[in-house]
Amino acid sequence: MKRITVRWPDGHTSSEVIGSDWLLSAARAGCPIPTGCMGGSCGACEIEVNGRVIRACISTVPASKSGRLVVDQACDPYW
Ligand code: FES
Repeated sequence: MKRITVRWPDGHTSSEVIGSDWLLSAARAGCPIPTGCMGGSCGACEIEVNGRVIRACISTVPASKSGRLVVDQACDPYW
C-alpha cells in the first residue's frame, strides 16, 4: 500500500493510503467532511485537493508527484 502525506484544513498532517476513501480518511484524521446525497450530485462534500475542487463522496485519495496533498474547504467557511 502506497501512502501520501495529507495536510488537513486545520493544519495538521496525516499519512493516508492512496486510493482510500476521502470521507473515511478525513473522519479518521479528525476533520470529518460534511455529506448530503452520497452520490456526487449535491456538492455538500466538496473539498479542494491541491487547488482542485472534488466531491469527496465519489473520489479517493489520489497519488501526487509531490508526495503531498493539501486539503482545503471548498466553500463553507465553518467546515
Ligand atoms: S455528498 Fe452529495 S455530492 Fe458528495
